[in-house]
Amino acid sequence: MERMLTLFLLCPFVFFTTVTTQQDNVCLRPELAASIDMDGIQRYFRPGAELVLSCKQGYTPVSGPRRIVCSANGQWTKTRLMCIPKLCPYPDPLSNGELYYEDTVYQSTINYTCHEGYVLSGASTAVCQANGTWSTAVPECKPVSCSLAPIPKFGMITYDKRIRGNTTDFGVTGTYKCLPPYVLIGNARAECTASGTWTKTPECQVVTCPPPEKIDKGYMSSQDQRDYDYMETVRYGCLGDYVLEGSLQIVCQQNGNWSEKPSCKAPCSVGIQRGRILYKGRKLWIKDLKPNTVLHKDIVSLYCMNKARNCGYAVPAQCIDGRLIIPECFEQPGTLDYNFHSSSLPSEIEQC
Ligand SMILES: *[C@@H]1O[C@H](CO)[C@@H](O)[C@H](O)[C@H]1NC(C)=O
Ligand SMILES: *[C@@H]1O[C@H](CO)[C@@H](O)[C@H](O)[C@H]1NC(C)=O
Ligand SMILES: *[C@@H]1O[C@H](CO)[C@@H](O)[C@H](O)[C@H]1NC(C)=O
Ligand SMILES: *[C@@H]1O[C@H](CO)[C@@H](O)[C@H](O)[C@H]1NC(C)=O
Repeated sequence: MERMLTLFLLCPFVFFTTVTTQQDNVCLRPELAASIDMDGIQRYFRPGAELVLSCKQGYTPVSGPRRIVCSANGQWTKTRLMCIPKLCPYPDPLSNGELYYEDTVYQSTINYTCHEGYVLSGASTAVCQANGTWSTAVPECKPVSCSLAPIPKFGMITYDKRIRGNTTDFGVTGTYKCLPPYVLIGNARAECTASGTWTKTPECQVVTCPPPEKIDKGYMSSQDQRDYDYMETVRYGCLGDYVLEGSLQIVCQQNGNWSEKPSCKAPCSVGIQRGRILYKGRKLWIKDLKPNTVLHKDIVSLYCMNKARNCGYAVPAQCIDGRLIIPECFEQPGTLDYNFHSSSLPSEIEQC
């Protein structure tokens, strides 16, 4: 028997064929819960052999015999030994932060994070150890602070709340200003961010605009060929019957450019020799429009004939920068009709 076992141990192949005849006489190394430990590494046991069981590190035994015996029939005696994982204490809450864990048993982990504006001081994770203690102490969430906001040259900041000492808390805001004539370039608002730094500091610069440009058919309130300061304005006007379109004045902007300048739009003449028009609520013969000039954007109506219904109707036309398009339906009367039958012109007969 002794020799046989040795043989088994040395040569598993031989064992496989012989075990069918010898099975009653050996116990295989038992398969037990992963949390249970047993002596040695031996794989085959003679009847009568004893095996001492224990709980693995991090597990606590509850009930049941800790010893099993190999019976003559090749079966081990029963054990009701159970090993339950050690428990770590419930973790304390983290002020100004959160902790995440699923369990507090051996090998569980806790993850710690801080709220925005706080930084973690200490370990960000803890593991429940075999002896039922957490591997690291509860960390702390310390508020983020910024140093005082940087001040641009020729500038200043006004905090939205009173600042004590030479640090500010996360979330503190303020507004920058530049001393005239310096102009603030960038964002006037500042904030102490969650990373402990201030948002981008603006700059205070002197802004000038080049001399303003002339406009065609117009004049300017200032002809000075000098640089103009930020916010300075220049007014424009138009000559004669030209009409200003756009804004009456331009302003020197923060970027050193003038705001958009206006333009002067040309008047129109109504391109007919004979006929009546409706202009500014008055019905008049074209020869009575003296001079034959209407201004940009003005509306002049001409009369057309509805031949089917034998009635006349007014069709509006607008002067746009020197161009007034006569409606296609307008028919200029011949001299004869105009002079002797003017009462039959579309402007004179019944209106549709
Ligand atoms: C803790 O963080 C790790 C790594 O980010 C992650 O895999 C794990 O699921 C987290 N555990 C919990 C309980 O949130
Ligand atoms: C628990 O185990 C850890 C790691 O082995 C050790 O550092 C710590 O001192 C132990 N704590 C107690 C209370 O035994
Ligand atoms: C902040 O003020 C304290 C004393 O009030 C001083 O010791 C410290 O150097 C100052 N820190 C900075 C960055 O100015
Ligand atoms: C100023 O105007 C010029 C010409 O119109 C333009 O090219 C330039 O981009 C403008 N500058 C700024 C800062 O807007």
